[in-house]
Amino acid sequence: MSPSRRSVALLGATGSIGVQTLDVLRQERERFELVAIAGGEQLSELAAIAAEFNVKYVGVKSEHHRSVLADLLSPDVAIVVGDEGLMSLAQSADVVVNAVMGFAGLPVTLGALAAGKRLALANKESLIAAAPLVAMVRNTPGAELLPIDSEHCAIHQCLASSPDLAGHPDVKRILLTASGGPFRGWSADQLKGATKEDALRHPTWSMGPKITIDSSTLMNKGLEVLEASALFGIDVERVEVVVHPQSIVHSMVEYVDGSVLAQLSRPDMRLPIAYCLGLPERLTHPYGQLDFSTALDLTFEPPDDAAFPALALAYEAARVAGAAPAWLSAANEVAVAAFLADEIQWCDIVAIVASTMDHYVADPLNSLASLYENDDAARRWARASLKK
Ligand SMILES: NC(=O)c1ccc[n+]([C@@H]2O[C@H](COP(=O)([O-])OP(=O)(O)OC[C@H]3O[C@@H](n4cnc5c(N)ncnc54)[C@H](OP(=O)(O)O)[C@@H]3O)[C@@H](O)[C@H]2O)c1
Repeated sequence: MSPSRRSVALLGATGSIGVQTLDVLRQERERFELVAIAGGEQLSELAAIAAEFNVKYVGVKSEHHRSVLADLLSPDVAIVVGDEGLMSLAQSADVVVNAVMGFAGLPVTLGALAAGKRLALANKESLIAAAPLVAMVRNTPGAELLPIDSEHCAIHQCLASSPDLAGHPDVKRILLTASGGPFRGWSADQLKGATKEDALRHPTWSMGPKITIDSSTLMNKGLEVLEASALFGIDVERVEVVVHPQSIVHSMVEYVDGSVLAQLSRPDMRLPIAYCLGLPERLTHPYGQLDFSTALDLTFEPPDDAAFPALALAYEAARVAGAAPAWLSAANEVAVAAFLADEIQWCDIVAIVASTMDHYVADPLNSLASLYENDDAARRWARASLKK
């Protein structure tokens, strides 16, 4: 490897963010070397990626997955298993892309930061659930947390090189844009008839199933409010959601003098992925390039808080703090999985999260053991309310 080439670990390589990261890496072989990957169920896809990029390490979920994958891989590739495996892969490269879905991505987030690596974070659930623990490991020398989520990447760009609000006393608020999802404009009555097919039809982004459902309930935006607060050290009262159906303005920062900075591009996740891989340099593929020679509509409106109660739940979890965001995210994972498995209706998703939150007992969340206990308790309550 040439000294200037950065090594990359891509965990969650077979998913939507994973595949788009591979696309960027294919264009940038001179700059980056993919050394480690991990995935869940799609083992033949994982083996194909390992062969194409000649990776050294592959992470899988269980011993069973290891034995299936071993038959598909070259014998020189080391296979690691489970959370410990993910943790070790998160220490194996200069840049770690966390593209795992859900709380399962926690070892990657904590492992990469504790090892002083650059973490390019798509997996918002780990940051939201473990915010106080992430804040501790983020101080590790060399550790760097860059957001792949397009809204947060936009804010990072608006805040330029020092995305810590402590260094930005002039920032008044963050304006987090939301497409509004497939149900924008639907009444509470119409939403009662929302189907899985409707919910999976996102108007502007093509993403994995869990985040697509989260976008339909606006829970994704609620999670992003929590994510913005944890990433940029800003109180959620200074994070405001604005519906922008075109998904061109990816978010904005308003300063105390009324000036608003925004980042614009076509919706293409390869742009924030390339930004996080390349910083401080910009990679030269114009993934989200806009065409200003034709008319471009940019509209903004407030979210419908009554039809989409997930947003208020997320703000409330932020105010309660401690392990409340972990409960919100865990209950939501359980409810969305049940919806995708046709066990509940669309309207039940947020109702289950709300009823789970009623059982939350205040916990300051100061250890990893306590985070796992809280995650477990929230999932048990959410599963219990599925049955009701
Ligand atoms: N998609 C987007 O445009 C987008 C935008 C912003 C943020 N994000 C965030 O990025 C994360 C990933 O989203 P996605 O849409 O890419 O999801 P996805 O398409 O469902 O992909 C999830 C990835 O995680 C892997 N995975 C699941 N459990 C795992 C485990 N225990 N160990 C290792 N790998 C595991 C999956 O493997 P298998 O497929 O092999 O089972 C897959 O590679 C989420 O946190 C999401 O909120 C996504």
